Amino acid sequence: MGELAGALRAIPVFTRLPAAFDPATVPADPRSLFVEWLTEAIAEGVPEPHAMVLSTVDTHGQPDARTLILKDVDEHGWWFAGSSSSPKGTQLAATPAAALTLYWPGVGRQIRVRGTVEPGDPAQSARDFLARAPGGRAEALVGRQSQPLAGAAELRTAFESAKARVANDPELVAPDWTRYLLRPTEIQFFQGDRERQHVRIGYRCTEDGWAHTLLWP
Ligand SMILES: Cc1cc2nc3c(=O)[nH]c(=O)nc-3n(C[C@H](O)[C@H](O)[C@H](O)COP(=O)(O)O)c2cc1C
Repeated sequence: MGELAGALRAIPVFTRLPAAFDPATVPADPRSLFVEWLTEAIAEGVPEPHAMVLSTVDTHGQPDARTLILKDVDEHGWWFAGSSSSPKGTQLAATPAAALTLYWPGVGRQIRVRGTVEPGDPAQSARDFLARAPGGRAEALVGRQSQPLAGAAELRTAFESAKARVANDPELVAPDWTRYLLRPTEIQFFQGDRERQHVRIGYRCTEDGWAHTLLWP
């Protein structure tokens, strides 16, 4: 085994499993279970528990993924925000489907959400943009996300000019800033176990509402 492989193998997983999980008592609606687990992750001090991986597919059918911040979960689904002209935005416009993955070390839990994605209405997106700190608004106004950048000086100039625009017009909203809604069709909950008898529950949206089942680990 190489040095790196050996070092990786020596790192323990599922070191802290503080929260009990009884699959017999899960709620009928997976959103309630998600909020319950998120609340427990926050209480257990999991760092940045609202950071999640958003996976999309590009126009060649190739997967892509990046970390985003969860903005809210409501009766419609999971909300996140970003630029509609970014790679993720153009991918979602072409293929409005995505998966979200959250892993919370410290409680040994993973949640996977799959579904369809749609932009929220412009007023919601504008509210989300204006709720950002001035630096975050300037960052979004700079635009050109994920395009090649010549150097730090070019970014500094664009950022300074965006900061000035924000300072001069506190109501200014980046036109492509979008609050997206992922409407879930499938949600999986994974509770890690040191003996590797992980508890997994899969929820699926059916015509009669949510159905759930245990899954083999
Ligand atoms: C912890 C963390 C949180 C992030 N939150 C967001 C976010 O809420 N929205 C966003 O557009 N990008 C966010 N990013 C940046 C994205 O990961 C990504 O670099 C950017 O959106 C460009 O992705 P794209 O090229 O796939 O469009 C975050 C990155 C990290 C590491």
